[in-house]
Amino acid sequence: MERLKVLVTREQIAAKVAELGARITQDFAGETIVLVGVLKGAVIFVADLARAINLEVAFDFMSVSSYGNTREQSGDVKLLKDVDHSMEGKNVILVEDILDTGVTLSFLKEQVQRHTPKSIRIAALLDKSSRRRVPIQGDYVGFEIPDEFVVGYGLDFAGRHRNLPDICVLEMEKSS
Ligand code: PRP
Repeated sequence: MERLKVLVTREQIAAKVAELGARITQDFAGETIVLVGVLKGAVIFVADLARAINLEVAFDFMSVSSYGNTREQSGDVKLLKDVDHSMEGKNVILVEDILDTGVTLSFLKEQVQRHTPKSIRIAALLDKSSRRRVPIQGDYVGFEIPDEFVVGYGLDFAGRHRNLPDICVLEMEKSS
């Protein structure tokens, strides 16, 4: 049996996204940026963050596979979809729902770096820094969270729960 326990409410998320958007607007004043969302988990965060940024913003998306339907990072990241446009000379912000072991984002950062962008930053709504396996950190981080399995606001377990408006801990209870 599954049990969902709210960890971050929709109100807390909205306030944090507004704050991150304002910081990005300030940091890139007078410039344009490209938000590169990492499918699929970051879709909801990208959509909200983009509207909290008061600059000219373009969208692009990347997709990787590493977790599959499991809860463990395999360490073997495969690029399923690259960006559609060159990132050369652009201010790129990689947008992720969660920074966990860091394996995915360091792979993606390296991938984008090959385009020689003007700048590259990382926005991650959630950060489980206690799980980090590779040295990488976010530039725009929403919430530091404990090592619990979370779903909602884009995050899934085996494709489910992405549409929950709050971020919830997914607890598995043994059925008796
Ligand atoms: C999740 C998340 C990040 C990655 C973070 O993706 O969206 O991409 O794991 O973990 P890491 O820091 O340990 O690499 P997932 O593979 O679950 O795909 P999804 O975005 O389609 O849900």
